[in-house]
Formats: sequence, C-alpha cells, structure tokens
Amino acid sequence: MSACPTLETENLILRPFKDGDINDFFSMMDSREVREALHVSDEYGLSEAFHAMTAWLGQWELRGTGHWALEEKRSGKFVGRAGLHKPERHDWPGVEVGWALHPDYWGRGYATEAGQAAVHYGFDELKVNKLFSCILPENYRSQAVAKRLGFEFLEEKILAFFPELPHGIWVLNRN
Ligand SMILES: CC(C)(COP(=O)(O)OP(=O)(O)OC[C@H]1O[C@@H](n2cnc3c(N)ncnc32)[C@H](O)[C@@H]1OP(=O)(O)O)[C@@H](O)C(=O)NCCC(=O)NCCS
Repeated sequence: MSACPTLETENLILRPFKDGDINDFFSMMDSREVREALHVSDEYGLSEAFHAMTAWLGQWELRGTGHWALEEKRSGKFVGRAGLHKPERHDWPGVEVGWALHPDYWGRGYATEAGQAAVHYGFDELKVNKLFSCILPENYRSQAVAKRLGFEFLEEKILAFFPELPHGIWVLNRN
C-alpha cells in the first residue's frame, strides 16, 4: 500500500501515481503551455516524466509529502498533478503546495480544488503552521490559484535549483 493517501473532492480523485499514467503525464508536461510555464527543458522526454512520477511516489514514502495524480471523477481521465512538495534543497522555504494541469483542463477550477485539498492536508495531517508556494513572476495563472487559496506574496528570491529567474515566494498561515 502506498503512503500516498487517496482523497476525493467535488470533481476530482487525488490518488497515487500509477504506471499507466505515464503517457498522460508526459502529454501534460510536453504541452506547449506547460513547457513554457515550467521552463521544461527540450531534453525532457518520456524517461524524465517516468522519473518524475517515481519521485513523487517516493517522496510520499520517504517524507509523507508529494504530489497526487488528479483524476477527473466523471470521465476517469488523468488531468494533472497537485500536492505538497518538500525537496532536499537548502533554500526551499518549507512545505510547498503546487499544481499543474493538462491545458485541456484549464479554466474549470480543478487546480484550486486540488490545491484546497492539499492545503487542508498540510495543516491537518502534516501539522505545519505555514505553507508556501514558489511561483515565477510571469506565471499569472498560478498566482491566481495561490490568491484564490488565500496565499499572500512574501518576497522574490532566486532559488538555487533555478538561477535564471527569481521565484515569488507566497505564504499561507494556519488560521
Ligand atoms: C497553474 C494552472 C494549474 C492553473 O490552472 P487554471 O485552470 O487557471 O486554475 P484553476 O483550475 O483554479 O481554474 C481557474 C479558472 O477556472 C474558473 N473556474 C471555474 N469554476 C471554478 C471554481 N469552482 N473554482 C475556481 N475557479 C473556477 C475560474 O474562473 C478561472 O477561470 P479563468 O481561466 O478564466 O481565469 C495551469 O495554468 C497550469 O497547469 N499551468 C502550467 C503548470 C504551472 O504553471 N504550474 C504552477 C507552477 S508554480
């Protein structure tokens, strides 16, 4: 059994990644919109996508944090990923809530819905007092999700894993 729990929201099932997600996950990462927003390198292919899926699952096992695969309830289709990220990086602000959807599923509120579930999980299960989101200044759609969830802009900071541009660090305090 995976350490990644399965949760249900109004329109989504948040579940552990499975082997059969690889083509859908890669198709999301390979879309022009997601490549641009996440600055996905030209070398990122199926192999890197598989590695990323295993890393999300592995992070749940090792740390109790990770991203879920998001499945649309009514169609059973893979629509994206979202969850909690705590990588081994010295300058990472803390537990980060993040989201990415295949562009076919943008504009339906799914990132906000999954992000809300991740926020609840972070405060109620992980018992952290603050959650963060690291968002590039040009990524207005992601900033809009953070704002809808109640995150506030804290500061701009160059993070070592991505020195090209500063990230906006957004914070949400436990009530
Ligand atoms: C960031 C990202 C997940 C946001 O997706 P999104 O569809 O804009 O966000 P949501 O799922 O919260 O949907 C919000 C939109 O749905 C609409 N919506 C419909 N029903 C809604 C509901 N119940 N609740 C909230 N919004 C709803 C909103 O009005 C908004 O519409 P808009 O597109 O006209 O602004 C998406 O752009 C993405 O995958 N980008 C690439 C990856 C990425 O950048 N990830 C973040 C890295 S920091």
